[in-house]
Amino acid sequence: MAQFTLNINGKQQQVDVAEDTPLLWVLRDHIKLVGTKYGCGISQCGACTVHLDGTATRSCSIPVSAIGNKKVVTIEGLSKNGDHPVQKAWIEHDVAQCGYCQAGQIMSASALLDKNSNPSDEEIYSAMNGNICRCGTYLRIRSAIHSAASNMNA
Ligand code: FES
Ligand code: FES
Repeated sequence: MAQFTLNINGKQQQVDVAEDTPLLWVLRDHIKLVGTKYGCGISQCGACTVHLDGTATRSCSIPVSAIGNKKVVTIEGLSKNGDHPVQKAWIEHDVAQCGYCQAGQIMSASALLDKNSNPSDEEIYSAMNGNICRCGTYLRIRSAIHSAASNMNA
């Protein structure tokens, strides 16, 4: 076990865990931020996506020892009141079905829009390709991303 101080959603958090513990389990089991989901554990589904210094990152596959001073943002920290433009667009387009994949989808979409304020369909497809949705919400996700982009640019 080792002590790590992590910057999570703007707060310094101390955890005492094995250094190979995936960030996902630190978030869920130690910090009790359970919005980030476990799907596959091998970087194949995107359910566990968080932002690491603004980049969409699979938290199941990065050990806590690799985080250092990087800023971690989870779905709980994306906005204060669930009112990030992407979250609002998700509601407007009624995107979620069972909801299991959606925190990861929103974190990938918001990271995309931070880097590209007006993505094309192809760019959305490429950025969101690793986020799997068993409920097949892909078309609504694409529409919601376009909608969030135009609201952010207005
Ligand atoms: S749980 Fe991390 S990519 Fe599937
Ligand atoms: S909404 Fe059910 S898996 Fe995506």
